[in-house]
Amino acid sequence: MKAAVYTRYGPPDVLQVTDVEKPVPKDGEVLIRVRAASVNPLDWRLMSGRPFVVRIFFGLRPRVTPGRDVAGRVEAVGRNATQFKPGDEVFGTCVGAIAEYVCAAELGLVNKPAGVTFEQAASVPVAAYTALQGLRDKGRIQAGQRVLINGAAGGVGMFAVQIAKSFGADVTGVCSTRNVEMVRSIGADRVIDYTREDFTKNEQHYDLMFDCIGNHSPSACRRVLNPNGICVMAGGPKQLRSILTHALKALVLSWFVSQKFVMFIARRSQKDLTMMNGLMTAGKVTPVIDKCYRLSEAAEALRHAETGHARGKVVIAVET
Ligand SMILES: NC(=O)c1ccc[n+]([C@@H]2O[C@H](COP(=O)([O-])OP(=O)(O)OC[C@H]3O[C@@H](n4cnc5c(N)ncnc54)[C@H](OP(=O)(O)O)[C@@H]3O)[C@@H](O)[C@H]2O)c1
Repeated sequence: MKAAVYTRYGPPDVLQVTDVEKPVPKDGEVLIRVRAASVNPLDWRLMSGRPFVVRIFFGLRPRVTPGRDVAGRVEAVGRNATQFKPGDEVFGTCVGAIAEYVCAAELGLVNKPAGVTFEQAASVPVAAYTALQGLRDKGRIQAGQRVLINGAAGGVGMFAVQIAKSFGADVTGVCSTRNVEMVRSIGADRVIDYTREDFTKNEQHYDLMFDCIGNHSPSACRRVLNPNGICVMAGGPKQLRSILTHALKALVLSWFVSQKFVMFIARRSQKDLTMMNGLMTAGKVTPVIDKCYRLSEAAEALRHAETGHARGKVVIAVET
């Protein structure tokens, strides 16, 4: 079978589509014939091998197939895997989705609703977990609250806008000029074009800020938060050192002010995927896909995602 593999760290050029052995499902796993996979910042960040500590975990001579988000058809089930059977259409998380076949723990999968395409389903898992768990669990979102989403046009942000609306919030999205209409079309009540206006300098205040970008200091973000407001920091700058500095500043600031700053890492949850199924089926969430690439174009897909200006999700459709 074919898979996208890198055997050295570097830019997306190091990714090659090559022949590898078809995997065999272990206990509690299923083998999926991949129909679509989507790209997350983690994929190109790990592939870059920076910071150097990444190489300690993945080895100095990596042999890695990227891709955490998958949608496809179950081809075989391993021992003790009881939730799915061959032929089921599923989506969820795994390791090495940018391939013709991948094995995934069934606990990270759910059935794909009939009205959702494989490409749409593959765009959901990591980005939607991040948006849902950030808004609901860390931000304690409530109906009627004023919520600001910084980075509203990206993979996580476009889910955050739609999920926040489904909770009944009043949503303001921040993006560049070319994405203003798209962010409005997915439900944002107001859109701030960051090329024309700095949201930290206007008079609006928010109960909850969901930050996918981390380009404003915590003290600047605090200025636009209500006294009991919460800033959920989902994403940050490209360099690890800048992320750590940003987190440290937020931690120190939160000792002295009434507002809260929360950083978190999204976790796999079958329950949350089921909730996303419900939102998609009810028409409350529709994934925005920037571009669909073929498996042979995997390097190009990661190159596009790495620009940090994808509109929604970047997807790789695997030919059957
Ligand atoms: N905490 C977690 O567990 C977790 C999980 C997944 C992802 N993340 C992190 O969350 C962040 C977002 O992920 P993602 O998948 O959404 O990334 P993404 O799809 O690559 O984000 C791209 C989007 O960012 C927007 N953007 C770029 N600069 C901006 C700015 N100055 N102001 C506002 N928007 C800006 C772009 O909009 P324009 O083109 O309009 O500029 C583009 O639509 C990343 O840092 C990622 O590492 C965290």
